[in-house]
Amino acid sequence: MNSSRVVVSLDFSDAKQALDLTRKLDPENCKLKIGKELFTRAGPGLVEKLVSSNFEIFLDLKYHDIPNTVASACRAAADLGVWMVNVHASGGRAMLEAAGEALDKTPNKPLLIAVTVLTSMSDEDIRELAIMNSVAEQVLLLARLAKSCGLDGVVCSAKEANQLSIELGKSFCLVTPGIRPAGSSNDDQKRIMTPAEAINAGSHYLVIGRPITKAADPLAALNAINAEINSVI
Ligand code: C5P
Repeated sequence: MNSSRVVVSLDFSDAKQALDLTRKLDPENCKLKIGKELFTRAGPGLVEKLVSSNFEIFLDLKYHDIPNTVASACRAAADLGVWMVNVHASGGRAMLEAAGEALDKTPNKPLLIAVTVLTSMSDEDIRELAIMNSVAEQVLLLARLAKSCGLDGVVCSAKEANQLSIELGKSFCLVTPGIRPAGSSNDDQKRIMTPAEAINAGSHYLVIGRPITKAADPLAALNAINAEINSVI
């Protein structure tokens, strides 16, 4: 495994655009995230191609289904050779444990990460789902559940990282989007942190898209972010 904490988010609508970008990057200097749009359009072939080019892949498909189905999907992801997969913690204990047990039997077990509460949701939104906790309380509850089921970590906002790392311990892996190097555009992100701030708050891996993918020189942008991170770890 390379030591970079940066996961470049491949938010593209086809394989060609994704490959044009990854050809400019170095598998030793970053990891890559493939989400629902690119996976649905380009399929597992793209994942296998990038894995065979030595990239570590976070397959961000946020599985949420009955335990047997999620376990089988996780096994299929592991068979593609990915480095990290994720599931919704709100799928519950049986689903989370089934996912973990399925991955335990795979030769190169990917990290298993939970999504807690989607950051697009407010206290009001979850109340409509009959969840009386605040978003912050629900995030902590679901993160604790994920940890107690043996998952490796959670996806969370960097703004939640400090609290979660105090509550769940420094070895519980925190994967955080919403990262913007100082001086770069916020795009549509509202609550941002710089790479150094996120690492200092307890983030393990930073999911970063546009500051790298839309940069005139993506490799230079990635190198600058890696250097910023290395200056604080
Ligand atoms: O371009 P940008 O750095 O904003 O991309 C962030 C990536 O992280 C996107 O793929 C986005 O969907 C994802 N993400 C996020 N906020 C979350 C969860 C995922 O920005 N709470």
